[in-house]
Amino acid sequence: MLGLDLSRNMLARAREMTSDSAIDYRTADLETATLPSAAFDLVYSALAFHYVADFPRLVREIHQSLAPGGALVFTIEHPIYIAAADPRWELDRQGRKTWPVNGYATEGERRTDWFAPNILKYHRMLGTTLNILLDAGFSLRRVEEFAPTDEQIAAQPTLSEERERPMMLLISALRP
Ligand SMILES: C[S@@+](CC[C@H](N)C(=O)[O-])C[C@H]1O[C@@H](n2cnc3c(N)ncnc32)[C@H](O)[C@@H]1O
Repeated sequence: MLGLDLSRNMLARAREMTSDSAIDYRTADLETATLPSAAFDLVYSALAFHYVADFPRLVREIHQSLAPGGALVFTIEHPIYIAAADPRWELDRQGRKTWPVNGYATEGERRTDWFAPNILKYHRMLGTTLNILLDAGFSLRRVEEFAPTDEQIAAQPTLSEERERPMMLLISALRP
């Protein structure tokens, strides 16, 4: 098994948390990383692909790295969450929390302050992300926009704002 990230700190944390000698953790930039051919049954990524500018290249690379029948499962920040020039909660005229969406069809760089200032992310429309997967030869298995259930909100009330707009997009795709 292979675990990739750009950050040595993240890899160190992953090593601590998994302590599994079967996982080979390596520093790699997903903009340029190459992967062995037909080597994996599953490629999984959590909340990293929206930092990658050349997503079509990465998806083609992952596709050729999967064995036939293999799956790509990943999460990204939802394009509705990323799109706006100044994404933050506002109140509408009724005082309801509202997340702005603007510039949706203008894809590309977005800079926000999140733990550190001026973090660079890449906005892609939902259709663009799905079409990049289809163009690379994937078939789509599942597309989910996370929204908490009533039970989840009862257990963790702060989750309720996740019903106002989607923050996470979860996608499962197959190499046929
Ligand atoms: C929000 S964190 C998610 C970390 C981890 N996957 C998790 O779910 O806890 C985003 C991660 O993407 C990594 N990342 C950002 N750009 C990258 C790139 N070009 N190549 C590889 N990793 C990258 C960062 O180093 C960071 O660890």
